Amino acid sequence: MTAPGTRGLLDSQPSNLLSVRRPLRDGHVEFGGDYNPEQWPREVWDEDLRLMTEARLTLATVGVFSWAQLEPEPGRYELDWLATVLDGLHAQGIGVDLATATASPPPWLTHRYPEALPVDHEGRTRWPGARQAYCPSSEAWRMHAVALVEQLAVRFGAHPAVRLWHIGNEYGCHTSRCYCDTCAVGFRRWLLRKYSDLDGINRAWATAFWSQGYSDVGEILPPRLTPDDAWSNPTQQLDYRRFASDTLLDEFLLERDVLRRLSPDIPITTNFMAMTRFNQVDYWRWVKEVDVVSTDYYPEFADPFNHVEAALSADLTRGLAGGGSWLLMETSPSAVNWQPRNPAKKPGALQRDAVQQVARGADGFNVFQVRASLVGAEKYHSGLIPHAGTDSRLWRETVALGSLLARLGEVAGSRVAAEVALLWDYDAWWACELDSHPSVDVVYPDRARALHHALWDRGISVDVVPPGAPLHDYRIVLVPTLYLATDEAAAAIRDFVAGGGHALITYFSGIVDEHDHVRPGGYPGAFRDLLGIRVEEFAPLLADQSVKLDDGTVADIWTEDLRVESAEAVRTYVDGPVPGRPAVTRHAYGDGVAWYVATRTDRQGTAAILERVVAETGVRPAALTTPGVEVTRRRRDERSWLFILNHTEADAVIPANGVDLVSGDEAVGEIRVRAGEVAVVRETGEE
Ligand code: GAL
Repeated sequence: MTAPGTRGLLDSQPSNLLSVRRPLRDGHVEFGGDYNPEQWPREVWDEDLRLMTEARLTLATVGVFSWAQLEPEPGRYELDWLATVLDGLHAQGIGVDLATATASPPPWLTHRYPEALPVDHEGRTRWPGARQAYCPSSEAWRMHAVALVEQLAVRFGAHPAVRLWHIGNEYGCHTSRCYCDTCAVGFRRWLLRKYSDLDGINRAWATAFWSQGYSDVGEILPPRLTPDDAWSNPTQQLDYRRFASDTLLDEFLLERDVLRRLSPDIPITTNFMAMTRFNQVDYWRWVKEVDVVSTDYYPEFADPFNHVEAALSADLTRGLAGGGSWLLMETSPSAVNWQPRNPAKKPGALQRDAVQQVARGADGFNVFQVRASLVGAEKYHSGLIPHAGTDSRLWRETVALGSLLARLGEVAGSRVAAEVALLWDYDAWWACELDSHPSVDVVYPDRARALHHALWDRGISVDVVPPGAPLHDYRIVLVPTLYLATDEAAAAIRDFVAGGGHALITYFSGIVDEHDHVRPGGYPGAFRDLLGIRVEEFAPLLADQSVKLDDGTVADIWTEDLRVESAEAVRTYVDGPVPGRPAVTRHAYGDGVAWYVATRTDRQGTAAILERVVAETGVRPAALTTPGVEVTRRRRDERSWLFILNHTEADAVIPANGVDLVSGDEAVGEIRVRAGEVAVVRETGEE
């Protein structure tokens, strides 16, 4: 058994399945969902199978929360019921994404080992009774999890239904950071691995500040609750987030390596939460360790641009998959149960949501869950088989979707091409969230969303990539709020621009290094030369304050006392704290151009800046479109498919040639897509 936090990521075993991001099955877009038969009497299982077959489901995620049923008491395994479920699904030709069932330990585990319960930063124990109540460093949890996974792998590793292993569930969703004494020990080990010795830690954490110097590693603690209005050391906090992410990954690797050993031919996934609302783990580090990239995406019903957010989440997941195949592992078929108000999806939304994910590279659309629960904390969460039964709109839409996704099988394995990259970095996000900053209103994903939205409106595809990724295939690189920028990340952007690319950087980028130490000499330290500007002081705005730019753009949250050195001012402020100063700048650098946006421009203002960058670079949309009508193109070899999703309330006419796989109609020159509907055109002679 590995001691908590002692394995290095580099120790993890490579896989022959890894890095080939291919569809689970060629020629198939999977359709399925979480299937929880353990909540139901056996009579219902037969009906489940009949209905799943009717709706043409191809994949069922089984057993995610069934540890207590699989091992009702320590060492007594009850696996026969699961074998019956797998046999039944296989008989219907439905594949299984088999969970390792470790997402939530049974009550006996933490009853026997109370030290396995997680502790929050205020020192409060988080008790069982819901789910995910365990400390990720817990030795007891790890030992029992490994034993369970061994049992499952031996019994089901060669079961013909099993197409995929599903480890854990949404790591970090409920217990992302534990602050217990076991984690403190793990944190110290992690720090010593990273910094070699105490001096290194003291230097990186700048402990000369506020008398924080450590004389012994044993004095170091997780960033627990501190006295009022006195913030924990920021680098300590940042390192704790890195440590917490690595600890969860460690836990995943423990199970992953059991499966590799006992079931080497079945690919492995875990469902990420790759969206702008979740940053508890660094997925760029995780993704190297999974065979199949999958994510969960849930709509935020109060957000009128939720569908654009869904597009960004899909683009991020495609980025994690290196542009290759991935699966949408969970979303809600209709309502969720965990928002303050939970409306049902409107007619047609399920189809639009599913096709949107496929349009952006998914080779599978799965939901939570197949059958809506009658009991438990999620009984008001929708399922494909609703409480109302099959005489329902949701069921009819489900059956129609099953047939459509079966027709879309030919797109599996094709790729979305993009000429624009957007840098996305968990380290920068974590650092940006630290306390005692110039403004609480600077929120990491905000500018990423705004820039992505402006291009989404124009039908321009965006790849989401980590800092340091190769950029030479792109024409534009967007760098939103890269507050923490390493030297390597800054160099990659500089080289990209020097080589002829256009980079657009937004405010509060390049301010600190990887230890959260300010880069001196004027902001934005890491990008000052590239941008040809120098900022002496930030001038954040007060709540409800806004400023005007000389083109009428309204901006809020942030301005700065910026002087151009070799750059040109593209827009200036007409009022606010720094009237007359540049708000948007352009700097010719090498063969390319570096743009800077020093304030939070409104939607039109952001669109106008991007329009200029797009015009200068010649980046083209998938098809000419209007805001609200989403277009993307997937390609494979000589074939291509144009996806059109009309999110508006008016019909749209979009240039297209080919056969619409949704309606079966031929498009000659253009296609009419009705309000709320979708088209997938298998193209003949693109454009
Ligand atoms: C997910 C989770 C599922 C289910 C779902 C409800 O976060 O993985 O198990 O709880 O939320 O929306």
